Amino acid sequence: MTAGSIGPVLINGVATDADRAAVSVFDIGFQRGYGCFEALRSYSGTPFRLGGHLDRLDRSASNLLIDLPPRDTLTAWCLDAAAPGDGVLRIYVTGGTDAKVPGTDNVVVVFLEPLPVIPQTVRLDILDAPWHADGRTSELTGAKTLSYGPNLAATIAARRRGFDDAALIGSDDVVLEGPTFSLGWISDGAMCTPGLGSHILASITREATIEVAQELHVPIREEQFHRSDLVSADEVFVMSTVREVLPVLAVGDATFSRGPVVDALQGGFRSLVARETG
Ligand SMILES: Cc1ncc(COP(=O)(O)O)c(C=O)c1O
Repeated sequence: MTAGSIGPVLINGVATDADRAAVSVFDIGFQRGYGCFEALRSYSGTPFRLGGHLDRLDRSASNLLIDLPPRDTLTAWCLDAAAPGDGVLRIYVTGGTDAKVPGTDNVVVVFLEPLPVIPQTVRLDILDAPWHADGRTSELTGAKTLSYGPNLAATIAARRRGFDDAALIGSDDVVLEGPTFSLGWISDGAMCTPGLGSHILASITREATIEVAQELHVPIREEQFHRSDLVSADEVFVMSTVREVLPVLAVGDATFSRGPVVDALQGGFRSLVARETG
């Protein structure tokens, strides 16, 4: 079963029937994973932190040397697509049909996907991620590109080992992120989360959860952490657009229970969303 879309798929702003929406096989988005994307939640028709997501899309496109349509055009497409209600708003920007000139005849695809079933808790495998930027810089540092094959392979590997997903570990046992989420945990009452210096994605949910922690007077530690810090935490959680804030019950062999601080962060995040989208 495919996820499909709620309402039409906008291709360069033109509403197209979901089963007729298509991208060229000659597009380097398809051929080489060259392009970028965003995913954000629509809550009853209102996108959460659309501006932040479009800022990140701007940075991704600029790293890839692809021009985007003007911001107000993109915003209008997103508001249009999000209007039907709750779902995951997806924005894809392809690289176009000329590898020498990124952006040639490219397309911007926007649609609202139905919300998947979101579990209450997750169990994470620990996986080495030698493919991750892991603090090294490149032309694509910070870009959320279409090249998500390694991320998906990590999730599939974790599932095959009986977990829901993976916690990715870099060189020297440094904790990075999940394939599609950020990691956080509570140690001695503080919210710990790997710093952006490891070139993990600048997650919008992570940023909002840090704001919630500040409101709740939970101390925040944003720095480089190691596997031993993660597995010895008191409570562990994941953060992402789709999952929001979710407690983690296992990281490899280490087990955890739902705890009061993660419960408070989860509740605080939901209130913040309600305030901003209500
Ligand atoms: C690698 C990675 N880290 C973290 C996240 C969470 O980011 P956000 O909170 O903006 O959804 C994502 C989301 O897709 C991701 O792909």
